[in-house]
Amino acid sequence: MLRAPTRLHRGPSRLFGPHVIPAAALAVALLSSLSGCSLLEREDSVVSALSSYFGTKTRYEDANPGLLPDPEAPRRDPELLEDTCTPVQLVALIRHGTRYPTAKQIRKLRQLHDLLQTRRPGEHRPAAADGRNLGAALADWPLWYADWMDGQLVEKGRQDMRQLALRLASLFPALFSRENYGRLRLITSSKHRCVDSGAAFLQGLWQHYHPGLPPPDVADMECGPPRINDKLMRFFDHCEKFLTEVEKNATALYHVEAFKTGPEMQKILNKVAATLQVPVNNLNADLIQVAFFTCSFDLAIKGIKSPWCDVFDIDDAKVLEYLNDLKQYWKRGYGYTINSRSSCTLFQEIFQHMDKAVEQKQRSQPVSSPVILQFGHAETLLPLLSLMGYFKDKEPLTAFNYKEQMHRKFRSGHIVPYASNLIFVLYHCKNAKNTKEEFQVQMLLNEKVLPLAHSQETVSLYEDLKNHYKDILQSCHTTEECESPKVNNTSDEL
Ligand SMILES: *[C@@H]1O[C@H](CO)[C@@H](O)[C@H](O)[C@H]1NC(C)=O
Ligand SMILES: *[C@@H]1O[C@H](CO)[C@@H](O)[C@H](O)[C@H]1NC(C)=O
Repeated sequence: MLRAPTRLHRGPSRLFGPHVIPAAALAVALLSSLSGCSLLEREDSVVSALSSYFGTKTRYEDANPGLLPDPEAPRRDPELLEDTCTPVQLVALIRHGTRYPTAKQIRKLRQLHDLLQTRRPGEHRPAAADGRNLGAALADWPLWYADWMDGQLVEKGRQDMRQLALRLASLFPALFSRENYGRLRLITSSKHRCVDSGAAFLQGLWQHYHPGLPPPDVADMECGPPRINDKLMRFFDHCEKFLTEVEKNATALYHVEAFKTGPEMQKILNKVAATLQVPVNNLNADLIQVAFFTCSFDLAIKGIKSPWCDVFDIDDAKVLEYLNDLKQYWKRGYGYTINSRSSCTLFQEIFQHMDKAVEQKQRSQPVSSPVILQFGHAETLLPLLSLMGYFKDKEPLTAFNYKEQMHRKFRSGHIVPYASNLIFVLYHCKNAKNTKEEFQVQMLLNEKVLPLAHSQETVSLYEDLKNHYKDILQSCHTTEECESPKVNNTSDEL
């Protein structure tokens, strides 16, 4: 039996006593570690104004500004159930923490940097309209990204995970109890950034139980290291139909390509070409996007304001955010049915975990897996949220309705920033007279209660939730959904 307290932890935590490092001290340490950089500027209002438009490269704390003062203090959503209900199981899907740019992004950035370098020698251009020669400043700005970094988790990303672990452990003390530690189940995508995120999360939990003690190697922890399962966490790589119809299909992202050459982007291209004093023909939407991402990477990874941020204003940022969202929409969201249908197995497994916990609880057995932590990607979370009906706009996002979509629901920076997390909490509840037991479920997205897509209720009876999603639970079979019509090689077309 679980001897779990029924009340959830409330108020300021006593758990983070002596090892709390004030944010200011952290900032000083970070800045002094970077003092080699002559152009270093502290994060300022330009970058904080842009930072909510970074799409999938948004920092978790920019999607959750409440965390900024104290990232280790648990955020207790007032809608969370308590008193009459005991949490019995938690299944979390967690996107990896802050990461380096990918090799592809670094290549484009180098291309842009080279463009600025070749522009300079012998030219004495007038300063930019606002008095600064931004092109020169950018050519001097050290390109500190190297190929080996290729999408790996950065130290800030490990911190994202440790802090998330600390907050969740304080929020659900009964589930993350010391005695449950050995029963934690961790599953991860094979990508380094996800494996490392799982390990960092475990280190955060270690810190929770043993403040001040250095954590052991993950392999030596009671629950063992995260287990790799790409069929589950990278289902999109294993779905033939998705690969042929979307991933490898040159026309599937038509709206993304059309937007890149549309009037909104063209305006930015002209403006940036003038600011940097390079021919507009040498620039394209991809290079502009990578310049914008560099502003986001320098902020997220180093906590500094890159001069690249000065190239863009809020209106540009909104357009570039839309470009990012368009891609996510057509590749991971509602753009094509297969995007979300390819996540059916992941969805079903979550319910299988909860089914099992319900069964064990009904038999008064201990729940064998009270906490299941699954580490994946934005590309893991978005299809699943789409499958469940979340963030669906009335009209599709297209290359031609940027203005109409200004207030869209599908904003990836709000949904899947770094370290974003979708959590299912299964509760065992007794009514006041103790006559009836029932199981309820709440979902949390980025630690805020996510109302049910169909009813807007903040909690659901487990049976009702299963009933609502019964079509997916019963009739969506990934093997069938993902079967590509092209697999039939014997067709007479050949
Ligand atoms: C590629 O995408 C387009 C647009 O959705 C679609 O019409 C076409 O059938 C797709 N091609 C393949 C090979 O699936
Ligand atoms: C493949 O296509 C041929 C001809 O259209 C058809 O007779 C056969 O049943 C198909 N096989 C499968 C496995 O679908």
